[in-house]
Amino acid sequence: MHTDPVPLTARRRGPLRGRVRVPGDKSISHRALILGALAVGETGIGGLLEGDDVLRTAKAVEALGALVERRGAGEWVVHGVGVAGFAAPAGALDFGNSGTGCRLMLGAVAGCPITATFDGDASLRQRPMRRVLDPLERIGARTLVATDGRLPLTLAGAREPIPIVFEPPVPSAQLKSAVLLAGLAAPGETVVIEAEATRDHTEKMLTHFGADVRVEPHGAFGRRITLAGQPELSPRPIVVPADPSSAAFPLVAALITPGSDVILGGVMMNPLRAGLIATLDAMGASIERLALRNEGGEEVADLRVRAGALRAVEVPASRAPSMIDEYPVLAIAAAFAEGTTVMRGLKELRVKESDRLVGTAALLHANGVEAEIEGDDLIVHGRGRAAGGGLVTTHMDHRIAMSALMLGLASEKPVKIDDGSFIATSFPGFVELMRGLGADLS
Ligand code: S3P
Repeated sequence: MHTDPVPLTARRRGPLRGRVRVPGDKSISHRALILGALAVGETGIGGLLEGDDVLRTAKAVEALGALVERRGAGEWVVHGVGVAGFAAPAGALDFGNSGTGCRLMLGAVAGCPITATFDGDASLRQRPMRRVLDPLERIGARTLVATDGRLPLTLAGAREPIPIVFEPPVPSAQLKSAVLLAGLAAPGETVVIEAEATRDHTEKMLTHFGADVRVEPHGAFGRRITLAGQPELSPRPIVVPADPSSAAFPLVAALITPGSDVILGGVMMNPLRAGLIATLDAMGASIERLALRNEGGEEVADLRVRAGALRAVEVPASRAPSMIDEYPVLAIAAAFAEGTTVMRGLKELRVKESDRLVGTAALLHANGVEAEIEGDDLIVHGRGRAAGGGLVTTHMDHRIAMSALMLGLASEKPVKIDDGSFIATSFPGFVELMRGLGADLS
């Protein structure tokens, strides 16, 4: 699919103006397809993200025996096969660029008595899978072939899944979700104890489908999640809200492009995803929450964003799980702030679609912004402006690509990226949406 690289250039022009709605949330879209496939009967989904990552998950659940139908833009129906009901696929499941699709489906397959091969693109083939395989093996799955805990790998699901108590060694919603999805097939209670709470979409959607899930606080920042095994999941309609991690790009672009005034419609405000907005608030950004409401079980709001001066902040490590995908674009806002912004505890950024800690620092350096990495912290010296003029290597990473382009909309000289094709993994229509606000992208 991503054969030819698509170079793109962003140039400074007038203010960004208008009202837009970014595509549906990626995390919720994957989960809607997977839980729909594990329910018995027909699940209707509205506002599904039709990005490559999610389409791969749709293909995977189809290969495992669910029926998936697209009835209109974002309107999908899944006919599920029930918990532990997946059938062995004819060929390898290819998750493309998507860590979420791959890791969640490893969990879903681990609870079924079938064998499946998982694969992905060059970026996904470098990402760690051992962290997921370890708990899934405790549940009873077996890893048949895997080089160094990476893709491609073959997993034999458990014939008699065992409920486990699992404490993830890193804060990761993918890891938590994989264990809960495998635990669906086990008798008794599967427990995940998180030292730091991560996005809770799996827990919420399981409850929505009728599973018995108990969530209790654990320590200062954590949660204990208990799932009663072998539920019958009943199909329930799902409305996917606009993805806050995608909204982050036009949001930051509007803040740093003088004179901008933009409304982002229906953005999900789930507190476990709202770390970027909290951080930008502390930087003095003008972000108004309009029409706060509940849609499909999530708080959403229209965000009115106006350009203005930003000041540097220190972002504590404890905030990382609620904004883990937003650091590259926060670093752009930090470059346009006055003063030194310190972002602490970014170790997990090293194992995303690319090493985003290094990639973010490199994109800033290429464009005349002073920044350094100290241990797992990223430090950006903001001057209220950036020179630009750089060519950014995106390393198959959609968020590095979009962050670099947002920098180019406000920097003195244009910013080029080597390849924008991966933007379609999470944000189809990105270039057109930004152009609709007045951005100069070519
Ligand atoms: C996601 C979890 C996060 C995030 C990813 C989506 C999810 O990854 O970076 O984009 O939907 O569960 P980790 O679980 O590795 O932190």
